[in-house]
Amino acid sequence: MFIAANWKMNLDKKSISEYAKFLQKFKFSDKVETCIFPPTIYIDYLHSLINDLPISIGGQNCHYKTSGAFTGEISPNFLRDTGCKYVIIGHSERRIINNENNAEIKLRAEAALNSSLKVILCVGETLIDRQEGKALQFIEKQINDCLPDNYENLLIAYEPIWSIGTGKIPSVFEIEEMHTHIKKIINKFVNKKINVIYGGSVNIKNINEILDITNVDGVLVGGASLKAKDFLAIYSAAVKYLNIS
Ligand code: 13P
Repeated sequence: MFIAANWKMNLDKKSISEYAKFLQKFKFSDKVETCIFPPTIYIDYLHSLINDLPISIGGQNCHYKTSGAFTGEISPNFLRDTGCKYVIIGHSERRIINNENNAEIKLRAEAALNSSLKVILCVGETLIDRQEGKALQFIEKQINDCLPDNYENLLIAYEPIWSIGTGKIPSVFEIEEMHTHIKKIINKFVNKKINVIYGGSVNIKNINEILDITNVDGVLVGGASLKAKDFLAIYSAAVKYLNIS
């Protein structure tokens, strides 16, 4: 079970320091893996505050080259060097705002894997695709186009675009159908279990229902991860879920 916090472009040094104090008081379980994706500039700072805790740190994106004339970009090697274990690749905000296409996302994922990072590859359909009944087809194409050649350290995050930051989530049936679909597509390439996590308006109220869905191996939390108390409540729900099931 994997519970991750994507802070996006939020939280400054002072709020990260307060957040870390909460984390320091919390008792983590070895059954639930957790990772925080802070703004890149604060990776080192967060690391210095929580490096004694069983929490991984990850980058929110990385470039497909390890060095060179790419002003403003982040090398996967730099992430590795600052102690990151994971990186998110292909988040819909990068795809939409920064025009990252499937071919580029595949390159970024491969570069990250080559730099010994674990990759969370994000996929997700628009509302129109969902309403027109094309969601499964859309995700299949995204995966076929973005899937890196190495599957060893890969996780998929299913994040329907229309669910991110909106408070709307797909039905239990839709999430289960999509996660099962994603696993089947990947099994065409490799006979290995790949974890698929769900992201999009996950919060303390819906976490139990989401975790209970077949083929959901964890969650990627945005807005509700910005308050330590809320994120830890989501984490605790996962621990409780595993202890009961
Ligand atoms: P929200 O949880 O704010 O909907 O964001 C989800 C997300 O984009 C995580 O990567």
